[in-house]
Amino acid sequence: MNAPIIPTGQDLIEEIKRLKQERNAVILGHYYQTPDIQDLSDFVGDSLELSRKAADTDADVIAFCGVRFMAETAKILSPEKTVILPDMKAGCSLEDSCPPEKFKAFREKHPDHIALTYINCSAEVKALSDIIVTSSSAETIIEQIPPEQKIIFGPDRHLGGYMSRKFGREMLLWPGVCIVHEAFSESELLKLKAQNPDAPIAAHPECPPHIIDHADMVGSTSAILKYAKESPAQTMIIATEPHIIHQMEKAVPEKIFIGAPGADGNCACNICPYMALNTLEKLYVSLRDLSPQIVMDEDVRLAAKVALDRMLDMSAGNSGGTDLGPKDLAHSG
Ligand code: 13P
Ligand code: SF4
Repeated sequence: MNAPIIPTGQDLIEEIKRLKQERNAVILGHYYQTPDIQDLSDFVGDSLELSRKAADTDADVIAFCGVRFMAETAKILSPEKTVILPDMKAGCSLEDSCPPEKFKAFREKHPDHIALTYINCSAEVKALSDIIVTSSSAETIIEQIPPEQKIIFGPDRHLGGYMSRKFGREMLLWPGVCIVHEAFSESELLKLKAQNPDAPIAAHPECPPHIIDHADMVGSTSAILKYAKESPAQTMIIATEPHIIHQMEKAVPEKIFIGAPGADGNCACNICPYMALNTLEKLYVSLRDLSPQIVMDEDVRLAAKVALDRMLDMSAGNSGGTDLGPKDLAHSG
């Protein structure tokens, strides 16, 4: 039997829209997706905003255009929905750095620490964590944790290190990094800044300290986008995955946004290779076949949901009544 034909060009876009209606699906897209995917998404946002949308949607199917940990988060929060990811290999270097069994052993060595865990991790690691954070919610959440409470922060040592410096709070850091933000070059950034002395630098907190130290503004993808819109500067240097520039150019076309460079002076090395696995063709096939789908062990999902619900509550400023002590690892993960 011949394989079904995948449409091309405008037909492909029309077919995706048709399938979306037929399936009662919502397309959620992260800012690091290619512009064609962003433009077809019903909602484009940062990790926290996309989690909130996934929890609230009344669609039957969530087509998640992002990476696997984001689609898993959607499934944890909306288990009755069918969650599809165009390419199941769309992982994350931070998730890869933190295998659940090693994370569990690390936690067991430090039973008096709570685990504050970046959302960029597997469902199993979320299940072993006390509170999940995103780059846009980490500060609000840390402010609500009593100063005497010891903290493990994983798996991003740069985001954890940035928070630790900002709050003057010691944290035990898991040694993971985002390969995309790790690839920015300080010397090339300084050369670019010398050529554009009036351009402020906006950086994501996944960047290493030698990049953060030169930034005029540090924040999540949505915070950087807000800054791009509101800053009086006409030219800006953006130290995060360059596909977010698409939203900036749509919002303020009169401004100039320059992607921060990698070691070769070119920002192409800062394209996230995992996000780039999703394409319109794969989105079409996933909507057509309702595959690949996120499936998850129910015990893992329930344990992960406790930590994610805490994030959603605390990021909205509702920590009242939440027990913020370390969880009993004997009964989780
Ligand atoms: P935010 O969109 O939450 O800032 O996260 C960035 C990121 O690296 C997602 O993988
Ligand atoms: Fe992971 Fe970095 Fe890609 Fe985000 S940009 S998905 S943190 S590798």
